[in-house]
This record gives sequence, C-alpha cells and structure tokens, in this order.
Amino acid sequence: MILPAWTWYSCYNTIIQAGALPVFAEIDESFNLDPSDIEHRITPQTKAIMAVHLQWNPADMDPILEIARKHRLKVLEDASQSVGASYKGRPLGSLGDIGIFSLQQSKTITAGEGGVVVTSDAYLFERACRFHDVTGRPSTSGKLGFMPGLNYRLNEFSGGVLLAQMRKLDTIIGDVRRNARRVYRGIGDLPATHLRRLPDPDGQLGTGIFLGFPAKETRDRYAEAMKAEGVPVSGPAGSVILPIVPGIEQKVTVTPRWPSFASERGKSIRYGRECCPRTIDILSRFAGVMMSPKYTERDTDDAVAAIRKVYPAIQRG
Ligand SMILES: Cc1ncc(COP(=O)(O)O)c(C=O)c1O
Repeated sequence: MILPAWTWYSCYNTIIQAGALPVFAEIDESFNLDPSDIEHRITPQTKAIMAVHLQWNPADMDPILEIARKHRLKVLEDASQSVGASYKGRPLGSLGDIGIFSLQQSKTITAGEGGVVVTSDAYLFERACRFHDVTGRPSTSGKLGFMPGLNYRLNEFSGGVLLAQMRKLDTIIGDVRRNARRVYRGIGDLPATHLRRLPDPDGQLGTGIFLGFPAKETRDRYAEAMKAEGVPVSGPAGSVILPIVPGIEQKVTVTPRWPSFASERGKSIRYGRECCPRTIDILSRFAGVMMSPKYTERDTDDAVAAIRKVYPAIQRG
C-alpha cells in the first residue's frame, strides 16, 4: 500500500498489522501525498493508495483517484486531521473506496478514543462491521462467512459524547473557516506570497496559515520575528516523517517473521532519508500561524498585522 512519508504512525501500523507492505511516497507543498510521486512506486503487488488529509487540508484527490482507476487500485482516505473539510464540494472521506476518521482526544471532535469508518461499498461495509465485532458470525446478506473480528466497537457512553460533539462540528468549522478567511484576505495583496498549496482553497479548513520560504534558515528567522511580534508560528505538526523513525527504518515488527517484510519485495525495500528527501526539505521550509475557532476578530487582525510586517521584511532579506 502506498502512503505519504509524512503522516501519523497509525497509517503505517495498520498496514503492517494487515501483513501488507508500506511503500512511502513524497508529499508536495500541500503537505499531503504528491500525486506525481505515486505511479513509479506502483508494482504488480500494489493494492491500494492511502490518501491522508493532513492538517485541515485535502489531498489532491482528482489525480490520485485517476491513478488508482488506471492501475485498478483501491483508495483509502484518512481524514482524521481534517474532519469537516471537503474537496471540490465533496466531504473528505467520501471520495475514495473507504474513509476513516479518528475520534482521539486531540481531534476537532472527539469521543475520548475511537473512530469512524465510512464507505458506500456494501461489501466493504459488511467486512468493516464484521471486523469491528467479535463473534465472527456470518453477515445477514450471506455475502460473508465467518470472520474473526477484533472487537473495535465504540461503547455507548463514548457514542453519547460523540453525538453531542457532532452537533457542534458545523459551528467549530464555521468559526475556524471565518477566522482563516479573514487572515487570507488580510494578506492577499502582499506580493509573491508563498502559501502552502491548497488543492481546494474553499474546501480546506485553514486552521493553520502556512507560508513557505526558500530555506530552513529563512523560515527560522520568520518564526523568531513573529514570536517577537507576539504571534508565534510553528512548522507542520501532528505527523512524523515515518521513513526516518529508527524502528521503521529497521523494519521492526511484532515478531521477527511478520509477513510484511518476509517476502523478497519486503526484504529489498529500504526506508530512511533517501526515500523521502523532498518531504524532509518541504517540512523544514514552512511555518504557520495556528487559528483557533475561539479567536476574535482582534486576534486574527493581530496575526494579519504581524505577517504584514514580518513576511515582506524576511523576503527582502
Ligand atoms: C492522520 C491520522 N490518522 C490516524 C490517527 C490515529 O487515530 P487513532 O489514535 O484514533 O487510532 C491520527 C491521530 O491520532 C492521525 O493524525
């Protein structure tokens, strides 16, 4: 399965747990899977592409879906960090074959822990139901026989919390979008602004307003100067460059004979810095102001004023 080199551990772990082989592709300046880096990584063994929508911004789904169709691959969307965002009018999670959302505590809405799986494919839906249950009983449609599930059921108490959270989702997203748009408008006339790539500017949530720089040193000077203005910025966060995590580079698995790395292909695959140089570079060159749904107009105007003062000065050198 192909996944972005910059994402959360779970994306890699689930592939390993399924006995499959994670193949990393580079991100682009959207911080999501770079569609132009997928095709050359496809082999006859490739089954699926995992498109992860990171830090409130949709991955560029049209070219990803086109590549998947061409090579008859499934597309799994992980919208854990971007619940409520959309791509060209369609909610994230509904574009590929199956979509998932995490309800872990740091997410926009939470049930404490747990998650949601969505699909329009009746067969995948039944498989997901059986897998998240535990008795393994055959499905009512008769399409699936015994299936040993692992009991991932969300309990009713968490379900109650989630229902209340879902009622707040539109308000949270509306507030954060309004704040972000005010900042984008406020800096819109600055010349040569290098924004994070937004495959659908209207669909993203804009919780972070990221600007790019030619090099890490310039980015760091921007961060220092913004801090001095009382508007701290941070680099892309909430994910990890997985191929350079020592345990991943060393292909550590639950047991030494775990199927993912037992095949010839599994043995030959190499992780590490050389499989994602562009990802490492891009992430070192961006910094963003974080937007809270609770920010007032004054807060967003402070952010605009700081960016307007600092960004052109850094660009001039
Ligand atoms: C992109 C992404 N996928 C998956 C997860 C994992 O979700 P969970 O902790 O609910 O398994 C997270 C964060 O926790 C995430 O950021």
